[in-house]
This record gives sequence, C-alpha cells and structure tokens, in this order.
Amino acid sequence: MRDGDGAVSHVVGALHDVTDLRAVSEELERTKNDLGARVDARSRELADAQAGLVRKERLAVLGQLAGGMAHQIRNPLGAIKNAAYVLERHVSRQGGDEGPWALSIIHDEVKRANQIITHLLDYARVRAPIPRRVDVIALVEQVLAERSPPPHVEIERRLAQVPLLSVDVDQVHGALSNLVDNAVDAMGETLETGRQRLVLETLREGDFVVIALEDSGPGVAAEIEEHLFEPLFTTKPLGLGLGLVTARTLIEEQGGTLRLARSSAPGARFEVRLPLRRQEG
Ligand SMILES: Nc1ncnc2c1ncn2[C@@H]1O[C@H](COP(=O)(O)OP(=O)(O)OP(=O)(O)O)[C@@H](O)[C@H]1O
Ligand SMILES: [Mg+2]
Repeated sequence: MRDGDGAVSHVVGALHDVTDLRAVSEELERTKNDLGARVDARSRELADAQAGLVRKERLAVLGQLAGGMAHQIRNPLGAIKNAAYVLERHVSRQGGDEGPWALSIIHDEVKRANQIITHLLDYARVRAPIPRRVDVIALVEQVLAERSPPPHVEIERRLAQVPLLSVDVDQVHGALSNLVDNAVDAMGETLETGRQRLVLETLREGDFVVIALEDSGPGVAAEIEEHLFEPLFTTKPLGLGLGLVTARTLIEEQGGTLRLARSSAPGARFEVRLPLRRQEG
C-alpha cells in the first residue's frame, strides 16, 4: 500500500497452506490415471476377445464351406481316377510313351487333389473331442511311422516317460502329423541341404505334458511369425496354409496350447502343451 506521496507504506501478504489440497489433487490425478489404465486394459481385453470371436466365426464359415466343397469335388475326382484306369488298359495295348506319361500325370494330380481335400476336411471337421487314455510316446512313434520322414532326416528321440493323457487320440495325432509334415518341408530336399535332424521331445511340466518338435530347417522369419497360425497363410508353392491353424484348433480342443517356441537357429521349435487333468468349461 502506498501513502499520499506514493511511497510504499505497508506490504500485505496472504499465505495459504495448500499441502492438503495438493495431496488430494495428486491423489485424484493418480486415481484418474489408474482408472484410465484400467479402462484401457479392459478395452484391449474386450477388443481381443472380439477379434477372437470374429476369427472363430470366420474359421467356422470357412470350414463349412471347405467341407462342403471337398465332398463335392471328391466324386468327380473318383470318376476321373476310374476313367484313367480304363484308359490305361487301352493305352498299354497301343504302345508309345505319350499315353502312359499323360496318364501318370492324371494319377499324380488326382492324388494330390485328394490330399488337398483330406486336408480341408480335417480342418472343417474339427468336432468335439472324445477323450481316451493314451501313452504319448506310443502316439509320437505312431505319427513318425506314418509320416515316415525322408532318409536325409535323422530322427532324435528325447522321449521322457510321462503320465497317460486323456485326450482325443485322433485329434492329437492329426495335429502332430501336421507339425511333422511342416518340419520335414522346412528341411528341404535331400542333396542341396545335406543331413537334417528332427528332434522329438516329451516332458512333463507341472500339470502339463509337453510334446516338442525341433527341426534343423531355416526357422521362421520374423516378418511371417505373426501370420503363422492364420488360415490360408502359406509360403509354399503347393501349400494350403491350413496345417498350423488346424493343429492349433485340434490341440485347443483338448484344453491345450500350440506355440512356436523358437523361431531361429538351429531351426524352428513348436511346442504342444496338453493338460494332465482336463479343465471343464
Ligand atoms: N517348421 C517350420 N519351419 C519353418 N517354417 C514353418 C514351419 N512350419 C510352418 N512354417 C511356416 O508356416 C507356414 C504355414 O504353415 P501351415 O502348416 O499352416 O501351412 P503349409 O504347410 O504352408 O500348408 P499346408 O496347409 O499344406 O500345411 C508355412 O508355409 C511356413 O512358411
Ligand atoms: Mg503345413
């Protein structure tokens, strides 16, 4: 305040203790952030769940369509195959190379088309599992015997004895077959690639049994890793891109999981994890 001459005569100060106010406002800010983070997390969960549902729905529709088409195409294929056998008899009487050559192409291609259809049907036909007690090592051996990897692939067994599992044997068998096929594909042709190794491993991890497959192929490139389990994703000229998504669906039907556990050198490692005790719901 100034006096009549304009000189400062008094100074007035007002002090407010805002400690409490500030504490409250900081607490409010924290709560707000916390709430925000929780809302964000919940929104993400919801978005994931929705994406999962959309994926399942899409897979179901694709599966039905594929299943229907596969059945329809099987009949004409059967007819082509039979007709080719009849032709074969005629052609063999006539002599010459061209006829047999063309017929062998028909046979091979019909066989391949049938394989594609079997694959599609496997995918479309995922049904509710019918669990049965099964010895995992016996199952692994059976898959190996059936898929019979080529001679340049050496098989290494690290098969630890694990408790019997209660799973749908056919479904787990189907999933493992797809994984073995992929591993063999990844390890390429004989001469260029040299000797290759496929490791099969079984182990117990708490309430789970793990079945792992390791190959000595090139592994999975980072840019394709996220697409691996998408239906119709393939990097193979004659691939369908249904093997892994089918395998994962089959394993999830048992209450288990399938994941890529290692993507690079010395090759890819896929792990199937199956529960010893099936959780309901
Ligand atoms: N062991 C592996 N090593 C490297 N890449 C792999 C391996 N397994 C799968 N992949 C990659 O994942 C892709 C998808 O595999 P998936 O089994 O679903 O389809 P696919 O083998 O191409 O065709 P198919 O429907 O005949 O199985 C493959 O094309 C390949 O690029
Ligand atoms: Mg495959």
